[in-house]
Parts: sequence; structure tokens; C-alpha cells
Amino acid sequence: HPGAVPQLQDAPDLCSLREAARGCRACPLWEPATQTVFGEGPVDARVLLLGEQPGDTEDLTGRPFTGPAGQLLDRALAELGLERGRFYLTNAVKHFRFERRGKRRLHRNPEATQVEACRPWLAREIEAVRPEAIVCLGATAAMSLLGRGVRLMEERGQWRKLHDGTRALLTVHPAWVLRQQEAAAREAAYRGFVADLAALRQHLDARP
Ligand code: URA
Ligand code: SF4
Repeated sequence: HPGAVPQLQDAPDLCSLREAARGCRACPLWEPATQTVFGEGPVDARVLLLGEQPGDTEDLTGRPFTGPAGQLLDRALAELGLERGRFYLTNAVKHFRFERRGKRRLHRNPEATQVEACRPWLAREIEAVRPEAIVCLGATAAMSLLGRGVRLMEERGQWRKLHDGTRALLTVHPAWVLRQQEAAAREAAYRGFVADLAALRQHLDARP
């Protein structure tokens, strides 16, 4: 941002992290992908929203949650009166993993080793932003933050406290909502997603 004045001392740090991540080769995912999709949002955000990995759209735009899943996330947040611009958005894995089918690129789940390889970037983003709360969107985000053995469907919608006092909220991934075939199932999944995120709204309201 030419001309932008960093408001906090941490701001340049996030910038240099982003710059360094552009050249990351710590796992094989960088090679077929277009670019590293680093997190974005205010460095003083109170809440960090953690996704899985960039999708096809994000791989091309270079920005997290700019495709269909991001639009659904925006809609859910808007319904709760929350603007995405106040959150720091990022992903557990910063390169798009896909399988080619003709001209299409089909999303593939990242492997555990790739989530692990990418975790240092997330750890540094968390260090820079120091969020009071982290919302894990889906199982990969939950695994990256909390380790294996998280039971998403049992633990979703409830806050838990991490060792350092950070609060974590688990919910489903917006792409999972979109993958529901039947309209009724999709609507139910969406309502559940919004209900989980209502806990975020409550948290923010309780501590303005
Ligand atoms: N899904 C994610 O988990 N992250 C994105 O940025 C886009 C889709
Ligand atoms: Fe590096 Fe993460 Fe990309 Fe792998 S996915 S190359 S660890 S930035």
C-alpha cells in the first residue's frame, strides 16, 4: 500500500512474513500452484479466522476467501452483523492443492505433513496478530491449531481455552456447507454454521 502509514510496530513484521512466504518451498505444494496465499486483515484484529487452504479462486486472486466459500462466509458473518474486514483471515495451508481434470482443477485435502510444514507460517501470523480468539473453519484448521484427535462435530460451537489464554471456537468449513447436495441439507448446514458463529458474536459483544 504505497503511502500507507503502519499504525503499529507489528505491521511491518506481518509484511515481511508475507514477503518471505512468497518464496516458501517447505513442501511440494508450491510448485503446481500459482502463488502463496498469505493471510490478510488488520494486524490488531481481535479475532483470527482460520480456513483450510486456498481454493481455485484464491490461487488466482492471491487473497484468502475470495471464492464461493468466502462468499458464504461473508453472508454468514453479515447475518450476524459482523464485517469480515475486522478479522484477520488466513489458512492452515498457504498453497492450493488440486488435481487436474482437463481444464478443471479439483480441490484435494492437504496431507497432514503439508499442514505441519505450513504451520510455522500460521504460528508467526498468530504471534504478529496476537488475537484473543481464533475460529477454526473445518477439520484441517482445527487439526492445525489443536492437533489430532479433535472431534469437530462434537466440539463445534463451543469455546475452548488454549494454554496461552487464547480462545478457540470450532465450526464447519463453508465449503462443506456448499457441498451438501440437497437444498434442505445445505440450508440446515448453513443454519448450523451461523449458529456456531453466533458464539463469536456473543464473545465480541461481551467484551467490546
Ligand atoms: N477455503 C479455505 O479454507 N480458504 C480459502 O481461502 C478459500 C476456501
Ligand atoms: Fe510453504 Fe505452506 Fe506453500 Fe508448503 S503450502 S510450500 S509449507 S507456504
